[in-house]
Amino acid sequence: MIPTEPPVLLSEEQIRSRVAELSHRISRDYADVPELLLVGVLRGCFIFLADLARALTIPRRVDFMALSSYERNVKTPGAVRLIMDLRSDIAGRHVLLIDDILDTGHTLRYLIDILGARRPASLKACVLLRKLARLEEEVPIDYLGFDIPDVWVVGYGLDYADQHRTLPYIGVVKQ
Ligand code: IMP
Ligand code: MG
Repeated sequence: MIPTEPPVLLSEEQIRSRVAELSHRISRDYADVPELLLVGVLRGCFIFLADLARALTIPRRVDFMALSSYERNVKTPGAVRLIMDLRSDIAGRHVLLIDDILDTGHTLRYLIDILGARRPASLKACVLLRKLARLEEEVPIDYLGFDIPDVWVVGYGLDYADQHRTLPYIGVVKQ
């Protein structure tokens, strides 16, 4: 069987223009802060963060966290495990969380809770994609790329079983 490329949901051009808009808004909103700390949630964020961070016109730094969701069948569904913490101390700093996709919202809820407790000067979230139909948590998103339907998407950093992560567009796979 010849492997087929996932059908396009969001094209390279659509992503490029939306990332440009977001970076413009973020640069404007943070124009008066000394420095913005972008906190990427590995691994899905890596391409989005790379494009967004380079397009900003304000002083910024980058740090990363890595998380893993517990298996669906454990006693605490939606629980999240911290695999790698930040290197930086965020107390008194302006922090913008960067994530690839908001699905149930458990991951971002967890991150906002633990980072909020470290007393940053401000804490906001920027997410490329959101599946509104699947959202289970109340999560405030300050910058959103696109609302998408309840399908499994890959590319531009997102994977399905570690495949298709480096696809230049966002496509849909059948699970
Ligand atoms: P949440 O905690 O349910 O919001 O899960 C968010 C995480 O699940 C994302 O950061 C992704 O890593 C992963 N995820 C959810 N939906 C998709 C998808 O359609 N494609 C790829 N990864 C996804
Ligand atoms: Mg993720």
